[in-house]
Amino acid sequence: EAKMCSTNELEGTTILVTAGGTQESIDPVRYIGNRSSGKMGYAIAEQAAHMGAKVILVSAPTSLPIPSGVDFISVDSAVSMQEAVEARYNDVNVVIMAAAVSDFRVLHKAEQKIKKMESMTIELVKNPDILQGLGSKKSHQILVGFAAETEHVIKYGQDKVAKKNLDMLVANDVSKSNAGFNVDTNEGYFLYPDKEPKEMPNMKKSDLARHILREVIDLVANKHS
Ligand code: CTP
Ligand code: CA
Repeated sequence: EAKMCSTNELEGTTILVTAGGTQESIDPVRYIGNRSSGKMGYAIAEQAAHMGAKVILVSAPTSLPIPSGVDFISVDSAVSMQEAVEARYNDVNVVIMAAAVSDFRVLHKAEQKIKKMESMTIELVKNPDILQGLGSKKSHQILVGFAAETEHVIKYGQDKVAKKNLDMLVANDVSKSNAGFNVDTNEGYFLYPDKEPKEMPNMKKSDLARHILREVIDLVANKHS
């Protein structure tokens, strides 16, 4: 267990963190999910609480223990996550969207368990983009996104910074086996709307969480100066 010293660098700051992979229901017993473990978002929430922030963790289902000292809100689908985040958007200083939000949901959810048959088709429709919605009505908040890319990491990442009106994006190169989904380490770039990218070498997610929060402290300070 890594030792974590309590500090007060984030005292007076309210940070909403989303984590986990959303689950899009097909019928009462089945869903469409993804391989996100929730580890990165939980590491950020835990570290932010240790740095003195008031932390709201909006989480899709994971197998992780709830970090101590956070206000925990459990959600499942993208739409339920959007509701939980938007209800609190006005009251927070920072939103960090580490959740893997499904781009699609099932158009017609079955009320009863679907019986087996020779073949079946499920029609999907586009989910709302939670982060883009927040970006389009951003006022005092700092917005941080995540992106998992397999190619053109910086270019694709910078497009997302612009499109979603972000203050920072953590762009992970998941073509590397020791980065991204369901591992304890991560690497990639910090991207900004008006600064050069910063390269982040492979490190533990808990260490990356600390680096991200240091950037957040700078972004909050610069917003107020
Ligand atoms: N995101 C979101 N709502 C969605 C999809 C994504 O809030 N419906 C957020 C993620 O939590 C992440 C950021 O947007 O912080 C980037 O997610 P990503 O999947 O990389 O980007 P997309 O815009 O969905 O583009 P694509 O998957 O096509 O690359
Ligand atoms: Ca996506």
